[in-house]
Amino acid sequence: TAETSTALTVPKTELHIHIEGALEPELTFACAERNGVTLPYAGVEELRGRYEFSDLQSFLDLYYTGMNVLHRAEDFTALADSYLTRAAAQGVRHAEIFFDPQAHTTRGVTLETVLDGLEASLSTSEERFGISTALIACFLRDRGSAEASRMLDELLEHRQRIIGIGLDSAELGHPPGDFAEVFSRARRAGLRLVAHAGEEGPADYVWQALDVLGVDRIDHGVRAVDDPELVKRLARDRVPLTVCPLSNVRLRGVDELGQHPLPRLVEAGVVTTINSDDPSYFGGYVGDNLRAIERELGFGEDALREFARNSVAAAFLGAERRERLL
Ligand code: ADE
Ligand code: ZN
Repeated sequence: TAETSTALTVPKTELHIHIEGALEPELTFACAERNGVTLPYAGVEELRGRYEFSDLQSFLDLYYTGMNVLHRAEDFTALADSYLTRAAAQGVRHAEIFFDPQAHTTRGVTLETVLDGLEASLSTSEERFGISTALIACFLRDRGSAEASRMLDELLEHRQRIIGIGLDSAELGHPPGDFAEVFSRARRAGLRLVAHAGEEGPADYVWQALDVLGVDRIDHGVRAVDDPELVKRLARDRVPLTVCPLSNVRLRGVDELGQHPLPRLVEAGVVTTINSDDPSYFGGYVGDNLRAIERELGFGEDALREFARNSVAAAFLGAERRERLL
């Protein structure tokens, strides 16, 4: 039953969650009201009804529009609290949380406002929710490397407030290799590195993320199945993939969950982890993703526990917290 399902009860670590993608329609409307933003939807149900996507871009359009209601630090605090509440209910114990600085600074919300707001929630996440947290700042790849480089300068003024950097937004036509200089500077600053690659883009983008950027983990990476040599490389070097099954279905990367490449990756020995990506938009938090693959892909209790262990191993954690999560 749902109550005893390992998918729900196993302690979880989440490594691929965009905080702006945890914006639930109720909070969208609450923020709009207090910030005097008029939304082009009659209400929560109409907005939720728009969550029908044909590809990554059709989602990103709604995602960037949705976050326009976030103005003040308190809005970001409420957003993080909302995520933590739902994540705690699904057994999450540690979360490495993405945010998109440029999606806010380009509309006049300062990096400091975003960080202050998120931290007002996350700095006490462990005491309040039993969830340790860390922030990863993602560059919007479709805005180019020059803007990413300037954003990195700004982020480095807040170096202690983030553990790493990532690369997200519209993938096709924006290969990881374009960001070589930005990632190498971030590495020299001691930041951990991740990048979305092989979500909609080709296996070659995964190679670039590995060989040009030198990332610690690949976000998504599912298109790696198109390239047997790449699958071997990922398995050999134990490069973790942060797979987001419900996201891949909703963005039409796979026709249905039953066709998902996850079993092939697991079979080939690739270290895979299960994550929610944008839980408000894709129909579920991380426990829902685990339950879905349990049902549709036939992963049993041992496999679900292995995904959870992989996530702990792939997390950017100190030895002490890692031990307590295992
Ligand atoms: N930003 C938020 N969710 C994303 C996704 N699934 N792919 C790329 N960029 C994103
Ligand atoms: Zn993502």
